Amino acid sequence: METLSGKTIVICITGSIAAYKSAELARQLKKEGAVVKVVMTKNATRFISPYTFETLTGNRVIWDMFSQPGMSIDHISLGQESDLVMIAPATANIIAKIAHGLADDFVSTLMLATTCKKLLCPAMDKEMFKNGLVQSNISTLKEMGFIVMEPEEGLLASGIFGLGRFPDPSFIVEKTKYILSEKDLSGLKLLVTAGPTIEYIDPVRIVTNRSTGKMGYAVARAGWTRGAEVTLISGPTSVDPPRWVNTVNVETAEEMYKAVIHHYKGSDVVIKAAAVSDYKPKGKLHDKEKKHGKPITIEMNPTVDILNELGNDKGGCILVGFAAETTDHEAYAIDKIHRKNLDLIVVNDVSMGDRGFASDKNEVTIIDRQGNRELIPLMPKLEVANRILDRVVALRKS
Ligand SMILES: Cc1cc2nc3c(=O)[nH]c(=O)nc-3n(C[C@H](O)[C@H](O)[C@H](O)COP(=O)(O)O)c2cc1C
Repeated sequence: METLSGKTIVICITGSIAAYKSAELARQLKKEGAVVKVVMTKNATRFISPYTFETLTGNRVIWDMFSQPGMSIDHISLGQESDLVMIAPATANIIAKIAHGLADDFVSTLMLATTCKKLLCPAMDKEMFKNGLVQSNISTLKEMGFIVMEPEEGLLASGIFGLGRFPDPSFIVEKTKYILSEKDLSGLKLLVTAGPTIEYIDPVRIVTNRSTGKMGYAVARAGWTRGAEVTLISGPTSVDPPRWVNTVNVETAEEMYKAVIHHYKGSDVVIKAAAVSDYKPKGKLHDKEKKHGKPITIEMNPTVDILNELGNDKGGCILVGFAAETTDHEAYAIDKIHRKNLDLIVVNDVSMGDRGFASDKNEVTIIDRQGNRELIPLMPKLEVANRILDRVVALRKS
């Protein structure tokens, strides 16, 4: 999905060894629909060629204030007509120059004239980053309205482990979406559950389901991007958690229940996308059951019904449930919305391979308490998540 379409983003690249990672950053921003323009310091061009960025973005790259006729006032217009100017990676040198108002090359001059949002992504050796002068310059820029994305801890180009690494480009893209999004969920406390739960038969064998957590993680990511304070309670999954979301990891239905109850109070909206086990083995065997070749029977008990508990003690909270069915989807969902006192139910047919479980896309029907249906056709789960959140926004206004 192109979430940055209509946005113009300028990437200023400076002379850091991490400059090569900006090629991937430019590619990802363009893939998200943004118009990407690149400017570079002369030192940056020693690390990576402007030609790489011209090819990736389809736009000319500026790196010399004077040698490119016809671009003479770009240092003024670029920072005023764009949505975001980012310096990624930002060297200690450019940070110092901007903090002190110097304008002796294209990037520093552009920054003096920039009126749109500004993002700074410092990347350098750990001792440089720790240096009091660098820290004081970063503080100055924060005070002046720069959004600063802290570097990461990790193996640096010098071979030393420390704080100073340029973040993964996908995190910068995520931050960019956050900076440029409308914050229509600002002030809202959103609790999301995601993924499967697992129930132990013995120390190595489990009963679980095919949920991957992608749908719930998309809801958490979309909610965070739109300004909500999000808590994500997740069963075991291999999906990367949204970076800036408070994620609580659980395994069993019982653990999920306890975590949900703990975080429920004070939530404005709860979206329960987790596929919680309905049954669990009556008891977990202490030792691994040996293979003996004979049939076995596992007696199962029902697990606690989390949605039911929430529905009974709902207060002013908006409660959204999911129904993953293979037959009689809507009839079951309509029954469930009333039985569990939900405000909305999102129904997905998990019998088709290209949607629902494990897929990056989903087709769902959103049903409200009055029985109104909204079909959301097959689309990426992040878009589906935004459509669900749109309905939550509408419900809060009604
Ligand atoms: C191999 C190499 C890697 C460098 N990496 C960084 C870096 O990651 N961060 C940084 O602040 N400076 C780094 N420098 C130093 C800058 O290139 C130097 O301070 C330069 O003056 C920055 O110029 P600019 O800010 O105009 O691009 C590196 C230098 C070399 C030779």
